[in-house]
Amino acid sequence: MKKEIAFIFDLDGVIVDTAKYHFLAWRNLATSLGFEFTEEHNELLKGVSRVRSLEILLNIGKVTISEEKKQELLVLKNTEYLGYVNKMTAEEILPGINNLLNNLDSNNIKYALGSASKNAPLILEKVGLLNRFAAIVDGNDVSKAKPDPEVFLIGAQKLNMKPENCIVVEDAIAGVEAANAANMVSIGIGDAQLLSEATYVLKDTSEFTTEFFMKIIN
Ligand code: BG6
Ligand code: MG
Repeated sequence: MKKEIAFIFDLDGVIVDTAKYHFLAWRNLATSLGFEFTEEHNELLKGVSRVRSLEILLNIGKVTISEEKKQELLVLKNTEYLGYVNKMTAEEILPGINNLLNNLDSNNIKYALGSASKNAPLILEKVGLLNRFAAIVDGNDVSKAKPDPEVFLIGAQKLNMKPENCIVVEDAIAGVEAANAANMVSIGIGDAQLLSEATYVLKDTSEFTTEFFMKIIN
């Protein structure tokens, strides 16, 4: 009998490209604080929680502010970000993902979401994928951020699967590290050098072909 397996997906950068919206919102915040925030800076925020992202951004601008002001800025940033998210549609699902989910469904392989984003359910709803996932673990459910394995371990538990039988799809280094720490197979999406710790690396989601899928599950 074939071994039972499950998939756990990161959201941002794997299912949809929301990094561009995070970037717009963080850049506007930096501008209002009087410093420049570039796309290179934005790379540092991938896979990182909202609170930690603000800390990194303030460090870049060498800005020190009160705890109260930080809370205010977090709300401001998220409000702008939600403005972009609310306009999202199924068109924004990254190439190869619909095909992959269809392949999983037709092979009766369960899949969960394991995301650092507190906005994950809303984003999935906007792109019409909310009801496809057997379980959703998001930024509201975890106390420890990636590279801690918590998010994926909770995902495995919700799917009733052993960690070693789970396959994680991730674009962030911290996410690949989290999958490895959870003793799961990892598929990195992005630069092979950056994601060298992943079990497999694909340049982008369009490389997630049915052929590759069959190789992975067999
Ligand atoms: C991660 C993104 O998925 O979610 C990060 O890669 C983001 O860039 C984090 O900061 C938290 O997202 P949110 O939606 O809760 O602000
Ligand atoms: Mg990601």
